[in-house]
Amino acid sequence: MKKTSPLRCAVVGMGIGRHHAKAYAEHPGSQLVAVVDLDPARLEPWRATVGDEGLFDDYAAMLRALKPDLVSVALPNALHGRVTIDALRAGAHVLCEKPMATSMKEARKMQEEARKAGRRLGINLSYRFTAPARALKDLADDGFLGTPYHAVTKWTRRDGFPGFGGWFGRKALSGGGPLIDLGVHRLDLAMWLMGSPEPVTVSGAIHDHIAKARAAASGKTFDVEDFSTGFVRFANGASLVFETSWAGHQEEPESMMTMVMGTQGSLVHRNEGGGYQFVGECFTERAGHRLHSRIHPDSRATSNPYQEMVAAIREDRPYLADAEDGLRVQKILDGLYKSARTGREVRL
Ligand SMILES: NC(=O)c1ccc[n+]([C@@H]2O[C@H](COP(=O)([O-])OP(=O)(O)OC[C@H]3O[C@@H](n4cnc5c(N)ncnc54)[C@H](O)[C@@H]3O)[C@@H](O)[C@H]2O)c1
Repeated sequence: MKKTSPLRCAVVGMGIGRHHAKAYAEHPGSQLVAVVDLDPARLEPWRATVGDEGLFDDYAAMLRALKPDLVSVALPNALHGRVTIDALRAGAHVLCEKPMATSMKEARKMQEEARKAGRRLGINLSYRFTAPARALKDLADDGFLGTPYHAVTKWTRRDGFPGFGGWFGRKALSGGGPLIDLGVHRLDLAMWLMGSPEPVTVSGAIHDHIAKARAAASGKTFDVEDFSTGFVRFANGASLVFETSWAGHQEEPESMMTMVMGTQGSLVHRNEGGGYQFVGECFTERAGHRLHSRIHPDSRATSNPYQEMVAAIREDRPYLADAEDGLRVQKILDGLYKSARTGREVRL
């Protein structure tokens, strides 16, 4: 059903959550009514926008007091499941940060609760919203690839531990290292461009040599991987290889690349200059000549994932990344960690 009044939005977790909050505050279709964080310093900048009555350190109290229409969950990964489910049960739609959860079981429960509550559950697979990614998806949907049969996808960093010693490096809070942090985006992009095939097996390995040495030298806790690699087979016969790392001996600070290979052409989404500038490229052959073209920067604008969620709810149309998409990635994460533990290929 279409909604005409602005959606009343709340954000839980004000790290990356500040981007959600800003988008809701600025969009004409939404109103920011509350922000929640345990750290008062992260709440303070929002006092002028939401008033004293919109600042909370307890999300459950916020849900009871304000009954928001849409809640963004931008907390450490291990809290995504519980807070999402509580918000859905309180009647809110939810936009949950990636990764959807720290296990397949939890992710399935979140999807089931959304279905029971009749509410939307979006997952912030934000790289889909970059202009080149959307253009590449348009090309894939238009048949540019022919039949996609293989993807190579990676995000590796030279030295990019998020807050070494903090929650990202603790399995109980994060669920894993760069695979669950960075790999989520690159696995999702590859599968999205491939037409969302169903992963059926995964085999892989994880390493922690650099992080272990750094933890020992600094006395900080770190119990997840700093590197992962894997091989995935899909139900339609297609395959994928991936690599992710927070640290490694490489030239660029950040190296991101997703290449989907098809019978008629290949599509590439990658960063340029070692940072967060993205390009889209296409490779094919015509009249016996190899062609290589780039998506023109003017061909599509990068869109805002938070404001798109608001629009999708208000206009009762699909969101670009929903629970099904989050689950597809989660399946590979669970399988890869199991494969790394057991040294065997895992059937998903
Ligand atoms: N989509 C993306 O590209 C993207 C980018 C960055 C982070 N993320 C995701 O966003 C989530 C948060 O990451 P971050 O970088 O903002 O981390 P962060 O540590 O900077 O922020 C998390 C915040 O949650 C607060 N918090 C913790 N427990 C809480 C609780 N019980 N109640 C209320 N507040 C609580 C902390 O005080 C902190 O301010 C993670 O899941 C991460 O993977 C996604």
